[in-house]
Amino acid sequence: MKKIVVFSGAGMSAESGLRTFRDSDGLWEEYDIHEVATPEAWQSNPKMVLEFYNMRRRQVIEAQPNEAHVALKELESHFELHIITQNIDDLHERAGSKSVLHLHGDVRLARSSVDEALLYPVEGDLNIGNQCEMGSQLRPHVVWFGEGVPVFPDAVNIMENADIVLTIGTSLNVYPAASLVTYAPPQAEHIVVDPAEIRNPGIENLRTIQKPATEGVPLVVNELIASIKN
Ligand code: APR
Repeated sequence: MKKIVVFSGAGMSAESGLRTFRDSDGLWEEYDIHEVATPEAWQSNPKMVLEFYNMRRRQVIEAQPNEAHVALKELESHFELHIITQNIDDLHERAGSKSVLHLHGDVRLARSSVDEALLYPVEGDLNIGNQCEMGSQLRPHVVWFGEGVPVFPDAVNIMENADIVLTIGTSLNVYPAASLVTYAPPQAEHIVVDPAEIRNPGIENLRTIQKPATEGVPLVVNELIASIKN
């Protein structure tokens, strides 16, 4: 079975009603990254950070997977499929996808601020005073600017075995995530689905489908499935 690696970003969930970060109505237009998404913000104003992620979590819980999430699930019957997502929502999982790696964490989980292996599901909001079993304040299980990406080596391993890389809805602005696609073998076929013109991360064999995810992804999925039947 050919291996497809999907690399998704905020645009994947845009049509599920979750805002992207860098579009004109994106989250980083309304919020200052330094106030809500850095270790320094967590030190100086943890309440504001918790509120920001509580809002994200509530919206994720209300959102539903869209046609693009659902279409990707169909690929699993025909290909070995791995999804690497920068998204902190669980919409790929809720669409039924089996192999999903979260590069930037998962907003539905909290983690200890003294031991990053201690993770807890969050029911409702995460508040000041919510502690891990070691007595430290719980923080959102997300990767902030200035922090390492602990699962990056796992993502590289997956990418190194890709036959086809399908990049969906990411501006490829945030590193190291944006460099991930360059770890695919040189002969891998790359397809990008994004309504905007995405800057090429230095890949030759790349085709862009300039459409929103719910249009572009089902098209690509049908094409890929047809290609193995021929
Ligand atoms: N379908 C597909 N793509 C879309 C859609 C859509 N309906 N709407 C917007 N997009 C595209 C935009 O054109 C843009 O290229 O989604 C991309 C969103 O880019 P960003 O907002 O920069 O999101 P992303 O690339 O996922 O950000 C990376 O930045 O702030 C951090 O940690 C956060 O994981 C995030 C990281």
